[in-house]
Amino acid sequence: MWIFGSSRKKLPPAGVALLLQFAAFALVLSGVRLTGLQPSPLVFAVLCGLLAAAFSHLAVLARWWLPIQLLFAPALVLMLTLNIHPDVFLAAFLILLAVYWSTFRSQVPLYLSSNKVWRALETLFPSHACGGGVGGEGKPCFRFIDLGSGLGGVLTHLGRARPDGHYFGVESAPLPFLWGWLRIKLGGHRNCTVRWGSIWDSDLSQYDMVFAYLSPVPMERLWRKARAEMRPGTVFISSTFAVPEQPPHETVQVDDLHRSTLLVWHM
Ligand SMILES: C[S@@+](CC[C@H](N)C(=O)[O-])C[C@H]1O[C@@H](n2cnc3c(N)ncnc32)[C@H](O)[C@@H]1O
Repeated sequence: MWIFGSSRKKLPPAGVALLLQFAAFALVLSGVRLTGLQPSPLVFAVLCGLLAAAFSHLAVLARWWLPIQLLFAPALVLMLTLNIHPDVFLAAFLILLAVYWSTFRSQVPLYLSSNKVWRALETLFPSHACGGGVGGEGKPCFRFIDLGSGLGGVLTHLGRARPDGHYFGVESAPLPFLWGWLRIKLGGHRNCTVRWGSIWDSDLSQYDMVFAYLSPVPMERLWRKARAEMRPGTVFISSTFAVPEQPPHETVQVDDLHRSTLLVWHM
């Protein structure tokens, strides 16, 4: 099947999952037409779910896709019986779109690092405080960027804890970006700046410290970008997610709920 071959590489897993749902639907529909059976909508949907889950297993989708694939069509049928107004679905879709945006492609959803990670980051900063930059005035001691800054918590915490730096964020999802922007403006964090955009068009040569808490998917590409752009003597930090075949120079174990680890590379 073409979807298992080279074309699959171009499709994100969510696209593959959707195609497999269509394939399962088409197969069940053909079976029903051929046999002349008339299953109830729920039985029809359960058959679609079983086939979609089996296809997903064969297509080597991550294991957590299997229950989603299994329950997707039956859940659709059950939801329709509840007679919920279509506007509710539209509103839910728009909110989810604004929060998760291109996650189906980037495979980097929004989840937040803990306060303990924020505090552990402070220990990696230059130990001396320098005069400039306090309150956002004068030249900052160092420039830090959070790639995919989410709700801006990392930036505002560090901005307060180490006022001698300037903290930048880049965020692609509209609602988290807006949240972070308002948090900075309303909180008066003059040494923090966030912009709506992509990690991939950020010039990393501008920063002394680059922090990323993303997912395993972009790490290899991000490492290549960091190697190409970051200046010698600067620091690249990934929370939790390793770079394939690039052991970190230093690790910091954080005693939080997720047992996060900060992986540190000196460029
Ligand atoms: C796991 S969250 C981390 C949030 C925050 N840095 C923290 O530590 O709490 C990853 C964030 O990266 C954003 N993101 C994913 N891909 C991105 C891209 N290409 N450009 C900018 N932001 C991206 C997501 O929208 C999400 O908000």
